[in-house]
Amino acid sequence: MKIGIPKEIISQEYRVSVNPETAKMLLQSSHELFIQSGAGVDSGYPDKDYLELGCTIVDSASEVFDRSELIVKVKEPSFEEVEMLSNKAIFTYLHLSSSKELTQKLLDCNVTGLAYETVVINNQTPMLKPMSEIAGRLSLLDSIELLKKSNGGKGKLIAGTSLAEPANVLIIGGGIVGLNAMQMSLGLGASTTLLDVNNDLLNEIKNNYPAVNVAESSEEVIRNLLPMIDIVVGAVLTPGGKPPTVITRDMLSLMEPKSILSDVSVDQGGCFETSKPTTHGNPTYEIDNIIHYCVKNIPSAVPFTATNALNEATKPFILKFANSGLDGFFNDEKLLMALNTYKGKLTNEEVALAHSLEFTDSKSI
Ligand SMILES: NC(=O)c1ccc[n+]([C@@H]2O[C@H](COP(=O)([O-])OP(=O)(O)OC[C@H]3O[C@@H](n4cnc5c(N)ncnc54)[C@H](O)[C@@H]3O)[C@@H](O)[C@H]2O)c1
Repeated sequence: MKIGIPKEIISQEYRVSVNPETAKMLLQSSHELFIQSGAGVDSGYPDKDYLELGCTIVDSASEVFDRSELIVKVKEPSFEEVEMLSNKAIFTYLHLSSSKELTQKLLDCNVTGLAYETVVINNQTPMLKPMSEIAGRLSLLDSIELLKKSNGGKGKLIAGTSLAEPANVLIIGGGIVGLNAMQMSLGLGASTTLLDVNNDLLNEIKNNYPAVNVAESSEEVIRNLLPMIDIVVGAVLTPGGKPPTVITRDMLSLMEPKSILSDVSVDQGGCFETSKPTTHGNPTYEIDNIIHYCVKNIPSAVPFTATNALNEATKPFILKFANSGLDGFFNDEKLLMALNTYKGKLTNEEVALAHSLEFTDSKSI
C-alpha cells in the first residue's frame, strides 16, 4: 500500500505518526512510504533517517496526499486535509464525538476513517493509553506551575511545608489519565482525592495507593469537595463518545478564586461545561475567576517521548491495516473497532449518538 505521512498542522503539534522504526517495519512488508519533508524533525528524526531506509521524501502535504492511499497522522485532519482524502483512508486520533462538522465532512468525502482511540481491548484503549499516561502526568505538572502567584495563580506550593498544608487535588476519572495524574500528585505531596463511577476500580486503586482518598463520583460529592480544591483534573471517558459533564458553570462559584480546572478530556469534547480547546502557546483562560487549562494535544510538549510511545502502540494496527488493503480488513475485529466512517456511512455508535446521526453497523456492510 502507498502510505503518506504529512507534517502535523495544528498549533505546536510536534509529534510524527510514523517514526523510522515503524517506517522500517512497513517497508519490510513491501509498502511504499511518502514522508513530507520535516515531518519527523521535531521528534528528533530528520529526513535523512527516513531516506536511508528507502522512504520517499516529498516537499508538500498535497503531494503526500496525492501519492498515498492511506494517510497516517497524529491529530484529526483539517477540512482541507479531508478534501485531499476523498475516497482514501486515514488512521489517526479522530475524536469525532467532539465535532459533528468533521464527522459530516469525512462522510461527504467518502473517507475511510480509522481512529486510534476507539479500539477497546480488555476494557483498555491500547492506542490511547501511551498518550493518556503522558497527558495525566503533564496535566499535574502544568497545573503546579499555574498555582504559582508569579504565574498569575493562587500562590500555593503543591507539597506545602512542614508548617503549611499541601494543596488539594481532585481527579475525576480513575482510568489511565487519572491514575497517572494521581501518581504525580501523591508523589509531589498533595492531598489527593480521586473519583470514578467504577467501584471495583476505586477499591483496587485504594488498595494500591492507601494515601489517596477515593469516592464514587456524583454531582453531590463533587459539589461538596470543590470549596477545598486547588486543582481539578478532568479525566473521564466513554470510549468514542462525548464525556459526561461533571462540573457545570454554576459550580465554579463554589471554588476559591484562581483555582485550576484542567480538562484533559477536552479532546473528546470536554467534561466541564466551561471547557473549550486551547493550545500550548495559549493554554489557559479564566471564567468566573477560575483558571481553565484545556490543551487538547498535551503530549506534544514532549515529542521525543510521545512519538516513540505512540508508535509502539499504533504500529501493529497500522501494519495490519496496510497488509489487509483498503477494503480487506472486515474480518479483523480490532480494526473494525477503529473504523468510524466508511463509504459515506458512520460506523461508530457513540459518535452517531453524540451527533444524532444515522449509525451503520460495520458488520452489516
Ligand atoms: N488532552 C490530551 O492531550 C489528551 C491526551 C490523552 C488522553 N486524553 C483524554 O483523556 C480522557 C481520559 O482518557 P483515559 O485514557 O484515562 O480513559 P480511560 O477509559 O482509561 O478512563 C476514563 C475513566 O473515566 C471514568 N468515568 C466515566 N464516567 C465518569 C464519571 N461521570 N465520573 C467519574 N469517572 C467517570 C471511567 O470509569 C474510566 O475509569 C479521554 O477523553 C482522552 O481522550 C486527552
